[in-house]
Amino acid sequence: MRALTIAPMHADSLEISEVPEPTPGHDELLVDGLALGVCGTDREIARGEYGWAPPHRDRLILGHESLGRVSHAPPNSNFESGDLVVGVVRRPDPQPCGPCAHGEFDMCRNGRYTERGIKEIDGYGSRQWCVETDYAVRLDPRLEPVGMLMEPTTVVAKAWEQVHRIGERAWFEPKRVLVTGAGPIGLLAAMLAVQQGLETHVLDRHTDGPKPGIVEALGASYHHDDIAEVAGKLQPDVVIEATGAGPVVFGAIANTASYGIVCLTGVSPAGRTLRIDAGDVNREMVLENDAVVGSVNANLRHYHQAAAALAKADLDWLSSLITRRVPLERAPEAFDTEPDDVKVVIDLATGS
Ligand code: BGC
Repeated sequence: MRALTIAPMHADSLEISEVPEPTPGHDELLVDGLALGVCGTDREIARGEYGWAPPHRDRLILGHESLGRVSHAPPNSNFESGDLVVGVVRRPDPQPCGPCAHGEFDMCRNGRYTERGIKEIDGYGSRQWCVETDYAVRLDPRLEPVGMLMEPTTVVAKAWEQVHRIGERAWFEPKRVLVTGAGPIGLLAAMLAVQQGLETHVLDRHTDGPKPGIVEALGASYHHDDIAEVAGKLQPDVVIEATGAGPVVFGAIANTASYGIVCLTGVSPAGRTLRIDAGDVNREMVLENDAVVGSVNANLRHYHQAAAALAKADLDWLSSLITRRVPLERAPEAFDTEPDDVKVVIDLATGS
């Protein structure tokens, strides 16, 4: 069977390999892969900067933004062949730590969690894959063309849950949201904001290409000026930060409304220093009861929230996020970035 594999931490080692066909265990689904989304983490792994192979192996099957169709389900499993499913990314650490023991593996405290296609377990970038029934989530069948957007939607569903839980410290009725970054994470965060009835603004540096139109089609406002100017004028109650760029992160933190909440979702490379007025940032956060929180990954609760959000989203709008599709045979092309890319998808179902 063909699969997209890599030797983690080795640049230029991405290739389409022949790997053994998977055999499902008694509590596992056998799934025909349909599509795989490619994100910043996959590109980081492809550059040889992140990722871990399974123990005693050199290569990892890449891919965590999955979509497939069940070809075999164990009896009495609540799944049947033909179901459209995605696989959960993270698995609890074997110890397990407190949150992992309570199903909150997205909050793992000892870092010994594993992640499909990222950390020590094979991903979903193959013609067929297996997944434990407890870590598979069914999708509305009409989502087949866009279902690989589920995993990034789980990430923003968790981010929004964090915002609401932090907001509950005191009276909380947010009205205005600024999302920084109009990549898939930012756009899906904005979609969840619009679904909550919030006044939604999205900031990105692009002035042309598909992003402004995608934001406007959502009923949100697009901005491309400097963060301090945009956030300073808007004074957002909530910022979902999805660029990971230092100046944007600190520009957002310094310009929220009182009781502002900034949720950081972008992963930045280390080693980029920035001059900031630390006294001013501290003063603003203290005097306004502001909060900044980091958020990564998602647990099963967020997968169910994301499935519900996608099921009520506009299919044409979701499709507009997928700006390029490449067949598995040419998968390495999906890792080159093109100016108008939003979400690039690898098609697992076509070709030999
Ligand atoms: C994935 C998360 C994962 C994180 C860190 C992200 O791209 O969406 O599921 O936890 O990378 O490995």
